Amino acid sequence: MESLCIRVAKKAGEKTRQKLIGLGAINNNLKIKSDGEELLIPVVARIEGFGKIRISDFEALEKEESFADVLGYAPAFEIVGDIAIIDQYESDAQKIADILIRQNKIKTVLQAASAVTGEYRTRELTFLAGEKRTETLYRENGCRYLLDAARVYFTPRLATERMRIADQVKNGDKVVDMFAGVGPFSVLIAKKSPGAHVIAIDKNPDAIKYLRENVRLNKVKNVEIREGDARDEIKGISDACHVIMNLPHSGLEFLDAAFTVVKKGGMIHLYAITHEDDLFDGIWKKIEESAHQANIRVIPIGRRIVRPYAPYQHNICIDFRAL
Ligand SMILES: C[S@@+](CC[C@H](N)C(=O)[O-])C[C@H]1O[C@@H](n2cnc3c(N)ncnc32)[C@H](O)[C@@H]1O
Repeated sequence: MESLCIRVAKKAGEKTRQKLIGLGAINNNLKIKSDGEELLIPVVARIEGFGKIRISDFEALEKEESFADVLGYAPAFEIVGDIAIIDQYESDAQKIADILIRQNKIKTVLQAASAVTGEYRTRELTFLAGEKRTETLYRENGCRYLLDAARVYFTPRLATERMRIADQVKNGDKVVDMFAGVGPFSVLIAKKSPGAHVIAIDKNPDAIKYLRENVRLNKVKNVEIREGDARDEIKGISDACHVIMNLPHSGLEFLDAAFTVVKKGGMIHLYAITHEDDLFDGIWKKIEESAHQANIRVIPIGRRIVRPYAPYQHNICIDFRAL
């Protein structure tokens, strides 16, 4: 397609392009092309002062197929590495999968076939398009995690929360990650604070397999891995500066075990799912009751909504000190 264009030396190409974007002068439907040592930037108007103005033939730029155009709405899916996982109740799943594959940003599309359930907090996934697999490599906060989305728990929606906790840990600290999964809290903390000692526990053998792999992948030397029930594996540990309890539906039941390992003045980070009508007070009362039974005093340090979980329900975190 013929268009007016600005002809500039390649060296000045990017700078010129940025200036033209600022002026809203670039013809976004056409592909910029090169000719020897020069770039030809298609423009919508004759603009002086940027280079030689010419007319040339350009290829049309392929527009990314948008969900809004095809479906009329934005579908719900999450992306973990090169896998997209479409929500369980999404009725246009196959159409969405085909668009995702055509957009060429991910390699595999799956759909959740159940809610996250059971002790290991996993969900059933059905294959929809692309490469038939459930294992992927995911990058977060400068770390890499290999994981099998069908065999372990994982959500990218806690990335900011993981960094918030990692930022509180200092070299020399002992950290117990009671429900570590494939290690997104433990590995990040270990990497950020090589002088900390992180004890990562999980009961799911597949999560432990990937946790070992992720410790190796990220070259961290300060993670001690324990496979089994947190209540058993925590035995013998003492003086923990931070205890991370990321088992939101039933973590509270393990609070008595956490109290046996946290040092005086140490912090517990407890995650829970609560209703918007009582986000924090009910759960704090239960923490106080459990502390009372363990003869420990607790002081609240912070509380926050980590992410919405379901209609009217939120994934929250309460940080508190044990004395
Ligand atoms: C919600 S996931 C959190 C995983 C990880 N912290 C993350 O952010 O991805 C909870 C994890 O706790 C593990 N788990 C459940 N019950 C457990 C128990 N009694 N002892 C140890 N681990 C347990 C599950 O296998 C699962 O990996």
